[in-house]
Amino acid sequence: MTISGTNSHQLIADELEFNGYAVVPDFLSSEIITGMAEEALAFQMTGQMHHAGTGRGSGLLHNVALRGDEIHWLDGHASSERQDYSDSLELLRLALNRSLSLGLFDYEHHYAVYPVDSHYSRHLDQFQREGRRTLSCILYLNQDWLISDGGALRLYLDAEDFLNFRDVMPVAGTLVIFMSTRFWHEVLPATRTRLSLTGWFSTRAEYPRI
Ligand code: OGA
Ligand code: MN
Repeated sequence: MTISGTNSHQLIADELEFNGYAVVPDFLSSEIITGMAEEALAFQMTGQMHHAGTGRGSGLLHNVALRGDEIHWLDGHASSERQDYSDSLELLRLALNRSLSLGLFDYEHHYAVYPVDSHYSRHLDQFQREGRRTLSCILYLNQDWLISDGGALRLYLDAEDFLNFRDVMPVAGTLVIFMSTRFWHEVLPATRTRLSLTGWFSTRAEYPRI
């Protein structure tokens, strides 16, 4: 199923409004997901991925004990599969701005490849007032992923109680969206290579933060 209808957007908006996050299985058709998985692996095989860091500017650190993924930032020319994804996200952005007045304006994204046994320790994608990231959106690209393969996204539902979490399996076609300043999260190690496309919607610099 390819999501495009206003009904699905409304469901996502409702989930975001009530829970601050939404998990959407089958966001895109499996052909599109397969094409994107192949593209991510092609970037890796042609040496176009680099070890991801944490922090930024002079505080940027590369430490696989914190974060073991390799990433490729995307810009410019989009493959047709990626264009389908961008089109779907653009419709979603407009729908969320209409129903939740989030003032989403920019979008940035990268492919991520987590080698076997690598992880990303618990973190926030955006600290309040430091930047403009508002919504984190992760699309998983892993066909035939089993619970026993591991690699869940562990989403901490309560910043005061790290025993309260939800694990989302990185199954092909699942999109997870959450408020970037609110949810601590981590990526658990997996027994297989784990692929995703991770992006952030952000506000304009001058947009008032709530
Ligand atoms: C990230 C991240 C989660 C995931 O890239 O910041 O938290 O499930 N990714 O890939
Ligand atoms: Mn993150």
